[in-house]
Amino acid sequence: MRGRDLLHAVRRVLLGSSSSSSRHAGSAGSGLTVEEVSVAAREIVYHVLGTRASSSCEMEVTPEQQERAHSLAHRRACREPLQYVLGEWDFRDQTLTMRSPVLIPRPETEVLVDLIQRKLRQQHGLHFLEIGVGSGAISLSLLHENPSWTATGIDLDDAAIQLTQHNASRCGVADRLTLHKQDITTATPSSPCFSSGPFDFVVSNPPYIRRDEMPKLAPELRYENDMALCGGEDGLDVTRAILDIAPHIISRTGGARQLWLELSPPQCSAVARLVPPGCVLHVHLDQYGHERFVQVNLWDG
Ligand SMILES: C[S@@+](CC[C@H](N)C(=O)[O-])C[C@H]1O[C@@H](n2cnc3c(N)ncnc32)[C@H](O)[C@@H]1O
Repeated sequence: MRGRDLLHAVRRVLLGSSSSSSRHAGSAGSGLTVEEVSVAAREIVYHVLGTRASSSCEMEVTPEQQERAHSLAHRRACREPLQYVLGEWDFRDQTLTMRSPVLIPRPETEVLVDLIQRKLRQQHGLHFLEIGVGSGAISLSLLHENPSWTATGIDLDDAAIQLTQHNASRCGVADRLTLHKQDITTATPSSPCFSSGPFDFVVSNPPYIRRDEMPKLAPELRYENDMALCGGEDGLDVTRAILDIAPHIISRTGGARQLWLELSPPQCSAVARLVPPGCVLHVHLDQYGHERFVQVNLWDG
């Protein structure tokens, strides 16, 4: 079998129409879209063959590679996210390890990092805090792209702390990131996780889905931790805790003094009513034109 034949075989498994092996039964109609099947087939074949080169079509495929590709395709046909199936995914210019149930970073979050970069990259030696690090995507990108910056990251989930630590070593920035297990809703300004503060800026992509929306989510999201997604009744439980503590842990001096949040579009306007007095709020759009990011400038008003 050659690479191009493997691609066709993987596509059949992903479509749920494979009859190649009883071990892969149960995938009768995966419900994946044509686009999802194309992306998954291509990425699984590249992953198994260990190359993205166009010459992979002509490569001879070993029986072990065939078996592995079938097994990965079957997992995807059962609606496990491709990022967990492959065990890694690119975020900006880095490849991060992905492990269920830690949240898979979304493309919108790359825009958040881009906004922060554009506003702050000229400032030397900034020290920032990320609340809810997940896989570490935001902090690790900012540290990688700004070699003079340092950071503290917190998360209430052990699995997230461990994965961020692993990815920090993988990205070569572990010596500039300190991690703490901490629930932000029970933190006070004197909690040990803030001892390296005050911070020049704080960033967070908090869980922001409303509780009543959770049962309607795509099957793939069952593989992600509820606590990474659900922000309580109105989706703003964690956001409120961040807004409450921000003025106590963000520096009053220096050129940054900002809080950056990724939220749902309706929450971006709701947050305007929650920001502490004396703050100036800017809403930024994501790549789809939706209000997605809130930049709160503290002590500017
Ligand atoms: C939407 S995910 C974001 C993960 C990562 N920053 C990203 O953008 O891909 C939210 C993260 O916040 C963490 N989290 C949820 N509630 C929290 C809380 N009360 N205190 C601290 N972290 C929390 C979750 O465990 C999860 O890792």
